[in-house]
Amino acid sequence: MYLHGTSRINDKGHLEIGGCDVVDLAKEFGTPLYIVDEELVRRRAREYVQAFRETGLRFQVAYASKAFCVMAMCRVAEEEGMSLDVVSDGELYTALQAGFPAERIHFHGNNKTPEEIEMALAAGIGCFVVDNFTELALLNAIAAEHGKKVNVLLRVTPGVEAHTHDYISTGQQDSKFGFDIGNGTAYKAVEQALAQPQLKLLGVHSHIGSQIFEVEGFRMAVEKVAAFSIEVREKLGATFPVINLGGGFGIRYVEGDAPLPVSTYVKAITDAIITQFTAADYPLPEIWVEPGRSIVGDAGTTLYTVGTSKDIPGVRKYVAVDGGMTDNPRPALYGSKYEAVLANRANESLSELVSVAGKCCESGDMLIWDLKLPPVESGDLLAVFCTGAYNYAMASNYNRIRRPAVVFARDGQADLVVARESYENIVGNDLIPERLRKPAVAK
Ligand code: LLP
Repeated sequence: MYLHGTSRINDKGHLEIGGCDVVDLAKEFGTPLYIVDEELVRRRAREYVQAFRETGLRFQVAYASKAFCVMAMCRVAEEEGMSLDVVSDGELYTALQAGFPAERIHFHGNNKTPEEIEMALAAGIGCFVVDNFTELALLNAIAAEHGKKVNVLLRVTPGVEAHTHDYISTGQQDSKFGFDIGNGTAYKAVEQALAQPQLKLLGVHSHIGSQIFEVEGFRMAVEKVAAFSIEVREKLGATFPVINLGGGFGIRYVEGDAPLPVSTYVKAITDAIITQFTAADYPLPEIWVEPGRSIVGDAGTTLYTVGTSKDIPGVRKYVAVDGGMTDNPRPALYGSKYEAVLANRANESLSELVSVAGKCCESGDMLIWDLKLPPVESGDLLAVFCTGAYNYAMASNYNRIRRPAVVFARDGQADLVVARESYENIVGNDLIPERLRKPAVAK
């Protein structure tokens, strides 16, 4: 059994996270429950900040809030000295409500609306990562209306294909994101950005994909971006003070996943930057990165209660839990794999092979195929590991299932950071038009 961060099995044979017995957490907060090992989140954040500090270069580690964006997480990110990457008005609003310093917020996205741009301008965010020509013109126009000058990075696709799932790789030419370097679009974007009076061009941004286990892709991206920066300086006389290499650093979900230590990714990026830019006598830029999954992914555990089971002799035994694709759509969406333990009997021998099903009306709603557990009974607690990233963030109300609560566990204390959705929340935005109202029953 692989245990992440502060997780351990206590004397009672129960899983413990952040010093909290999860059997107690289930009683107090109910299930399904997302449990975040706060200490592990902080440790991961510090690994990035520390690794960059050691290089002596200027840097920003921007937490990619899309992975898990709630106000308490924004507070932790701020306390750990990170910046924040947001991609929508909702993420921006969450950050601002949490009091996150606006000047450390970077706004991403391939289709920012005029309203989102207005909102971000009014808040005074640190930087817009501009994705396309429409946005370039729109941002300049809105900034002009407000008499503001805004910092921008241009998102470029360096033509590097990360070895990852198709839906989560973005650095290749055929992508909905960014300006392509290879076909000259990125160069045109730089020309246009330099010509817009309200825009201050800080540099370029590249994100090659997600859940990456090698440094080669990042090195190649640096090479492309450096060559491009040098070309821009030669032809247009502009020097970039910032280079952003995005996120995508992998984590261990299951046996066989072999992520590199954070410091290895950071060193590969910073070494490549130093080599490439120094060779061209180019002033060393400030380096920004945007880890999401690798900050929160392995710190999250989802706790479920086992309900029914269905044994098909000679075929398979299905065991159903009280959540599923509504709180974790990743297995259904990407075929993602997870490990899990029976949290209330974690020491017992693994004598049964089961497949874990969710409770949605959909055959594809399976969380784990072929998992070894002790003989499972209704009422047992199942803990699925590594659900901190892109789980709560991608949760839905399919079948009108209420989204679970989230707790932060640390030093034996568990604090509720997101309440479980209520039935009132479920119908909260529903309206019944006059013509559909039930007539009052005459008494
Ligand atoms: N920066 C940019 C511009 C991004 O697009 C992303 C992720 C990140 C940073 C953070 O990447 P990370 O460090 O978390 O890998 N829903 C998918 C992942 C989509 C990633 C989207 N962009 C999943 O569940 O695997």
